[in-house]
Amino acid sequence: MSEITAEKVREALAGVPYPGFRRDIVSFGIVRHVAACNGAVRVQLAVSATDEDVRRQLRENVEKTVSALPGVSQVTVEVGQPAPARLPAAGEPETKAEPKDRPALAGMILGVASGKGGVGKSTVAVNMAVSMARRGLRVGFLDADVHGPSAPLLFGLEGRRPERADASGRPLPLEAHGVKIMSMGFFVEKDNAVIWRGPIVGNFIRQLLSDVAWGELDVLLIDFPPGTGDAQLTISQTLVMDGTVIVTTPNELALVDAVKGISMFQKVEIPVLGVVENMAFFACPHCAKKTEIFGESRVAARIEPLGVPVIGRIPIDPRVVAESDSGRPVVVADPEGAPARAFEEITAAVLGAVDRRRGAAEHPA
Ligand SMILES: Nc1ncnc2c1ncn2[C@@H]1O[C@H](COP(=O)(O)OP(=O)(O)OP(=O)(O)O)[C@@H](O)[C@H]1O
Ligand SMILES: [Mg+2]
Repeated sequence: MSEITAEKVREALAGVPYPGFRRDIVSFGIVRHVAACNGAVRVQLAVSATDEDVRRQLRENVEKTVSALPGVSQVTVEVGQPAPARLPAAGEPETKAEPKDRPALAGMILGVASGKGGVGKSTVAVNMAVSMARRGLRVGFLDADVHGPSAPLLFGLEGRRPERADASGRPLPLEAHGVKIMSMGFFVEKDNAVIWRGPIVGNFIRQLLSDVAWGELDVLLIDFPPGTGDAQLTISQTLVMDGTVIVTTPNELALVDAVKGISMFQKVEIPVLGVVENMAFFACPHCAKKTEIFGESRVAARIEPLGVPVIGRIPIDPRVVAESDSGRPVVVADPEGAPARAFEEITAAVLGAVDRRRGAAEHPA
């Protein structure tokens, strides 16, 4: 009988999916060490999930897979914690990509992105976060726009600074409307333009992700800067995301960039859960007549052939600006208004899409 080798064990482990996912545990980066000697195999896993069920399932699945290999007489599986990620200070060279990390941060990691700037990403992201918190989820909000952070304004936290938290001195996220928030805007003076080079942007984002005392989160929502730049790349390399929402306005210029954005996320294997059409129309407050101010919408016609659904149309409404600027998302300030109802529908569609994807991953056809 051929002798079992560490290489053969690794090959077999590449067929073991992470519980709840299609992705295998080797590409997930949790197989830290494999040793094989005279039929005895030892596998060390570095699992950041604290959920005992996940850890038990991983141990059992690895034991089962390895014991079924020819030439294996004994299997030992150790399920440990990953080494804490050390993040470089500004100015240090960029770190190599860490293994992708998902469970340590949150049960679900979602993004809100756009091709073009100013289409309402942050507004959508903040309202979705608050809507999720009101549904009883523990929500974290990461403002990944390190050059133009808007979370401090939109959550009514301007001028506030995070306090130091746990024994290791990590900063606590700030809280508003039931959401835990972290933003570069809490560390730099308002109106101070900060230009960081690409690798530094990556380092800051990694720092905001892993050097912050987030606590237990059901959802981490990431508000991306516009376009397809360093923040998107860093996050796609660092985290396994459940998916992202793309926001666009109905005009052609924004729509072209939204299509580019979809293609970029698909390339880095982040599922695009849906497109939100913001400022889609104006509803007259007096007669309720709808005006499509950008002309008849072509968003669905352009997006749906790409296999991505349009999951919401938000009207343009001056109350959105006024309430957002005073730190009160409309899902709180005007929950019965049309924009808030659209945000609630979008939140439900996103949570539903993640649920369905997980169901499909657990029970492949
Ligand atoms: N449905 C809406 N009706 C009216 N105003 C809106 C609507 N959505 C967003 N806005 C306003 O449009 C402006 C831009 O929105 P926001 O900052 O959310 O866009 P963004 O895509 O995050 O921008 P950036 O690309 O700079 O990050 C804000 O003043 C916001 O209040
Ligand atoms: Mg923004």
